[in-house]
Amino acid sequence: MTAEIAGSAPTADPAGMTPPTPLELRRAMGAFASGVTVITGMDGGEPVGFACQAFASVSLEPPLILFCADRGGRTWPKIRRSGRFTVNVLGEDQGDLRDRFGSGGGRRYEDLEWDLSRWGTPALPGVLLHVHAEVDTVHTAGDHDMVIGRVLEVRPGSARRPMIFFRGRFGVDSEPPAALGEAPPLSLGPGRLLNRGTPSTREGDSHRPGVNFPHLCGEGE
Ligand SMILES: Cc1cc2nc3c(=O)[nH]c(=O)nc-3n(C[C@H](O)[C@H](O)[C@H](O)COP(=O)(O)O)c2cc1C
Repeated sequence: MTAEIAGSAPTADPAGMTPPTPLELRRAMGAFASGVTVITGMDGGEPVGFACQAFASVSLEPPLILFCADRGGRTWPKIRRSGRFTVNVLGEDQGDLRDRFGSGGGRRYEDLEWDLSRWGTPALPGVLLHVHAEVDTVHTAGDHDMVIGRVLEVRPGSARRPMIFFRGRFGVDSEPPAALGEAPPLSLGPGRLLNRGTPSTREGDSHRPGVNFPHLCGEGE
């Protein structure tokens, strides 16, 4: 049993420990594998959306989900204004959708076929799941907003393998980092990492290397 569990008062700064830097946190959190979604909505008749891995189920009764959106992003304020959104859960082979919506330079809806859901939100094709929701509450959480959505409808899609984001890569079968604790090379973010032509181009993009985007991480990047 550790001293903390035994009930001794936690020390604010044990042995001069400092909290992780953004880069350290980003790398560490890469050990937590997640799926990848695209959050879509409408902005004055125009479809909008952005890639988002920080998505989770929150409550069954009432039905609530959450996603975390960078407060510096351009799309989230538009979705917030409209009040409704759809979470599109990506399949393993939907890298094109991820790349379209996952960086400032992505093509988003250009030459993309999509459906308008009965809730007035864009539904992307071929995904594992559509979760249609309305914005319930928004909590400011550091450099991100934690958005709680009330689920209006779930529409399961094709039964295929999910896209997995793990240690800065997509899938779990890529080479693991050389050694735990060894200093990894700097990440260039998922777009660069994949080298599929969608590097983050927007000045201030929150998933640039070493910047404040804890969701995108990769020890072995
Ligand atoms: C795999 C992946 C996961 C991402 N997850 C998130 C996330 O959870 N929250 C977020 O705000 N941005 C996330 N992003 C970054 C945004 O998709 C990206 O910064 C996008 O360009 C934002 O667009 P916007 O400026 O139009 O809002 C992710 C990007 C990728 C490629």
